[in-house]
Amino acid sequence: MSDTARPAVYSSTQMFAHWLIAFLILFQFASGGGMEQAFDAAMEGVAPMLSGAVFVHAFFGLTIFVLMLWRLGMRLSHGTPPPPETEPEKLQYLSRGTHYAFYAVLIGMPLAGLGAVLLRSGLLATAHAWTSKLLILLAAMHIAGALWHLTKRDGVVHRMIRRDPATNDTVDEVVPDRT
Ligand code: HEM
Ligand code: HEM
Repeated sequence: MSDTARPAVYSSTQMFAHWLIAFLILFQFASGGGMEQAFDAAMEGVAPMLSGAVFVHAFFGLTIFVLMLWRLGMRLSHGTPPPPETEPEKLQYLSRGTHYAFYAVLIGMPLAGLGAVLLRSGLLATAHAWTSKLLILLAAMHIAGALWHLTKRDGVVHRMIRRDPATNDTVDEVVPDRT
């Protein structure tokens, strides 16, 4: 894509989706602990596949899936603000790569979980569990990036927390889009 208009800020809806999904992911990890035993028990036929714990985990996992599709739509229609000019180019690529990887993982992972449950597939369950390690790695890199931006005081963390009243959602800046 060549020169395309990008927004100066995230929309309130984008921010809302960001923090809601982050919260739900925390919940998924908290509830994921007992999932392996529950799934193994179902595979051995000693418990139903959609027992209470599995149902709750599956419900919120699929909610994340739907929210990620919605968020992807917002990213494509509204866009995302450009990185600060002070950010080294290599870090810009790393940051964008991490964001894309989040989309891939958070869309693929629930599908693998759903496939594991519906098809009673141990292979998909293993893929799902391994992807959760990748998600931890991405989250660690992402949070490290946020902390780095805090030390630089470049306003990047702030723009995912609160809209600057001086700006609005409208496209008010044209910068080269490298997405
Ligand atoms: C983005 C959404 C999701 C996240 C972040 C997530 C996270 C996790 C985590 C952290 C575990 C524990 C992995 C381990 O034992 O190391 C787990 C296990 C599991 N999850 Fe999810 N999950 C999600 C969506 C789903 C969905 C939608 C389903 C089913 C419809 C599902 C089914 C399972 C199953 C069956 C296991 C046990 C796998 C095993 O045998 O180890 N998950 N999940
Ligand atoms: C695992 C949970 C999280 C996920 C999946 C996640 C995902 C993302 C994604 C995909 C973006 C790109 C913007 C978009 O497409 O909407 C983003 C931006 C951002 N996230 Fe997170 N995030 C998580 C947790 C956090 C946490 C805990 C913080 C704060 C410490 C944080 C701070 C930010 C900031 C400041 C931005 C804006 C970056 C920029 O504009 O370049 N995120 N996040």
